[in-house]
Amino acid sequence: VIKAFLFDLDGVIVDTAIYHYRAWKRLANELGFDISEAFNERLKGVSRMESLDLILEHGGLTLPEETRTELAAKKNDWYLELVSRMTPDDILPGVPQFFSQVRKAGLLAALGSVSKNAPLIIERIGMQDAFDAIIDGNKITRGKPDPEVFLKGADELEVSPAECVVFEDAVAGVEAGKRGGMFVVGIGSPDVLTQADMVAPSLQELTVEQVLQKAQ
Ligand code: BG6
Ligand code: MG
Repeated sequence: VIKAFLFDLDGVIVDTAIYHYRAWKRLANELGFDISEAFNERLKGVSRMESLDLILEHGGLTLPEETRTELAAKKNDWYLELVSRMTPDDILPGVPQFFSQVRKAGLLAALGSVSKNAPLIIERIGMQDAFDAIIDGNKITRGKPDPEVFLKGADELEVSPAECVVFEDAVAGVEAGKRGGMFVVGIGSPDVLTQADMVAPSLQELTVEQVLQKAQ
């Protein structure tokens, strides 16, 4: 029986995935190369430092630890500039309605994000009270596709992985949910999120009932 829904943040609840992409692209351009949208799919759900390492590898650059720390901080400053302008209007279409269905169905809700900025974003969009547990990048040691973030979420909610449904827009995030033993709803394209148990373009196209029917 499904008892809890675990939500990724970037690209599922808010469209910060595009902000991450813009900030990384700006950094890559400054370093003398470019990153495509297709390459960006590999960065989704991946931690800040791991993302930077993938980008540097893509550009054929090897840089010392100190420089890498500086570059990551620079990207984060640009990202925070974009995030600081966010308001509840930035919540993706269908999210408030979906969350009220979650509550009506008596399900628990948790956030499962690798982002260290997740608490700030949740506050900016006024969704602090929508979650029974918040797991973010400050509480974990391994990014997705490691299942740690979702297993911690289940743990805090005191439910088992088999009682959870994960909502994810990232290839790495879908893999994390599957490795954690959870039913995974991919948010995006079925051509990209091939490992997901079901896929919808956004939460707006889904009802809680549809998910529960497939998951149990
Ligand atoms: C994930 C994003 O949610 O958080 C990744 O999908 C991002 O793109 C990661 O790199 C880490 O985010 P932050 O905010 O800690 O740099
Ligand atoms: Mg995401």
